[in-house]
Amino acid sequence: MNDKRIELVDGDITAINVDAIVNAANNLLLGGGGVDGAIHRAAGPGLLAECRTLGGCVTGDAKITKGYRLPARYVIHTVGPVWKGGGRGESELLASCYRKCFALAAAHKINSIAFPAISTGVYGFPKQTAAAIAIRETRAALRDDDGPARVIMLCFNRESREAYEAALRQDSRPAGPVL
Ligand code: APR
Repeated sequence: MNDKRIELVDGDITAINVDAIVNAANNLLLGGGGVDGAIHRAAGPGLLAECRTLGGCVTGDAKITKGYRLPARYVIHTVGPVWKGGGRGESELLASCYRKCFALAAAHKINSIAFPAISTGVYGFPKQTAAAIAIRETRAALRDDDGPARVIMLCFNRESREAYEAALRQDSRPAGPVL
């Protein structure tokens, strides 16, 4: 298991010096509140100007831009699902966000990437469930020594950190045969 390549960091994603930071955006990709607002404020107007050329982003997908005034070279914008109780494919859409971000990281030879807790703020996704999805998809991306050398999960509050710590304690080996 490559959990040693997964780090939990408390603080603001805009200050993290990695190849790419992930933005929890909305379908318009024109900025917003939360981490989206923080990233656009820190990156400056060039980020919005480039986002305007992207034609939006469907939920579960991701698009990449430069990082502008951010320490990070790239911003990967992904649109997580709004939590509607769990019966509308929310978990699969959130998993897709992580898979699409890792696919863009591979395509752009990104060696270090930092994620916010996608969908767990305004979009209301339960933090424990979201963290389990994030860790499961990250472990899958790092299997066979593929994927970035460093994956950072930003913990913007205590609840997020505890959710990731619980998810990391879950063993990722497939369950053995039912005896
Ligand atoms: N750095 C790291 N994490 C942050 C930061 C920050 N500067 N600001 C907020 N967060 C955390 C929140 O605490 C939450 O755990 O990011 C997580 C995602 O929360 P939101 O930013 O609300 O994103 P999300 O729930 O995916 O909702 C997306 O919010 O801002 C709008 O335009 C955005 O419409 C979109 C929606």
